[in-house]
Amino acid sequence: MADLLRIENIYAGYDRADVLLDVSLAVEAGSITCMLGSNGSGKTTLIRAILGLTPPRSGRIVFDGADLAGRPTHEIVRRGIAAQGSSPARSPAASRRCSRSAAASCPSRGCF
Ligand SMILES: Nc1ncnc2c1ncn2[C@@H]1O[C@H](COP(=O)(O)OP(=O)(O)OP(=O)(O)O)[C@@H](O)[C@H]1O
Ligand SMILES: [Mg+2]
Repeated sequence: MADLLRIENIYAGYDRADVLLDVSLAVEAGSITCMLGSNGSGKTTLIRAILGLTPPRSGRIVFDGADLAGRPTHEIVRRGIAAQGSSPARSPAASRRCSRSAAASCPSRGCF
């Protein structure tokens, strides 16, 4: 199946702190991909890079055939990428409801 999201050799960070060093991954359309890592390893930074909130210093992020480099976050979201925060849920049932409603409100297929 074709890659819906492709991250190629990105470097990103904050001020003088390098957080993502040469990160690459591909997500196939219709698949679910989990990112695992210890606290502070850069998971949120990678999501921020994809959304254009912490733009990569180099490398490429391609979503649905379009290079996201330099695009503002509102345009990236309009293309179909959404992020759900990790605020604590009151109960497992509430958590499931939140996930379903987040998925339902996702404008396209690129929900994280
Ligand atoms: N706004 C910021 N300014 C400077 N450094 C930051 C900033 N946000 C995160 N960092 C640093 O970047 C590194 C990666 O943080 P990040 O939040 O991406 O990790 P994470 O994998 O999401 O961690 P967690 O599991 O705790 O959510 C950490 O060393 C963190 O201290
Ligand atoms: Mg995080």
